[in-house]
Amino acid sequence: MKLILIAPSGGGKGSLADLIVKDYNIPNISTGDILREHRKNGTELGKIADKYINDGILVPDNVMIDIIKDRIAKKDCNNGYILDGFPRTLNQAVALTDAGIKIDSVVELDVAENLIVERLAGRWTCEGKECGFNWNERFEGFTADSCATCKSPIFQREDDKPEAIRKRLANYSNNSRAILDYYKDQGTLFSVTVTPDFMPKDTYKVVDKHFTKLGFKKK
Ligand code: AP5
Ligand code: MG
Repeated sequence: MKLILIAPSGGGKGSLADLIVKDYNIPNISTGDILREHRKNGTELGKIADKYINDGILVPDNVMIDIIKDRIAKKDCNNGYILDGFPRTLNQAVALTDAGIKIDSVVELDVAENLIVERLAGRWTCEGKECGFNWNERFEGFTADSCATCKSPIFQREDDKPEAIRKRLANYSNNSRAILDYYKDQGTLFSVTVTPDFMPKDTYKVVDKHFTKLGFKKK
């Protein structure tokens, strides 16, 4: 079961992936998380990525394609995976196909821009390695001191500043149409319109129904 999640910044890719992982037991590969981890550990890649991420600019395709090829070759990907944040350009999408990778379903979350700005301003991420939950100040149980689930510290991302958000959203609007058309032509695209009343579990309900139709089996 190989999935791609496509949504603008703050569109809910990570939140949806958390719910899919629980039911289907496949790893979520978030390219943003991989880059942030390298940055935290001060690796060469982390140093390259640093400037791009903080400014909300895309990291070059060749760097990202190598990261993904390397990651999906790992053993935990034998039964499939979720790609959260890849591909982000048509080049990246074509590189997957050229590497012989057949994606079973591409889920697009169609979210209005005004909803996104509000969400990113209220996002807090859990630092816990096992948990990593994407909190929002609007969620029931949220506390700013620590993760209400695992008690690890929580933090706000540096690229959730207005100028970087604006650039991240512009990247998406410049690149996403070509990617979505590419997968539409391949017959794998499934689009969900996310309205303001939708919580992550509501989005998941719609997506999970689609997965059942495709014959995906839960763990
Ligand atoms: P990345 O970390 O992937 O950032 P992004 O695409 O901007 O997306 P986010 O993680 O901000 O949002 P999300 O869609 O996961 O939403 P979330 O679930 O957190 O990438 C960061 C950077 O890395 C890029 O800018 C780029 O520089 C680089 N990069 C990464 N991949 C790359 C690639 N392939 N090529 C080149 N460069 C690359 O939700 C947001 C908030 O909303 C949360 O607070 C959440 O709790 C809340 N929320 C979510 N869903 C709902 C809902 N339904 N209702 C209410 N609240 C909700
Ligand atoms: Mg994310």
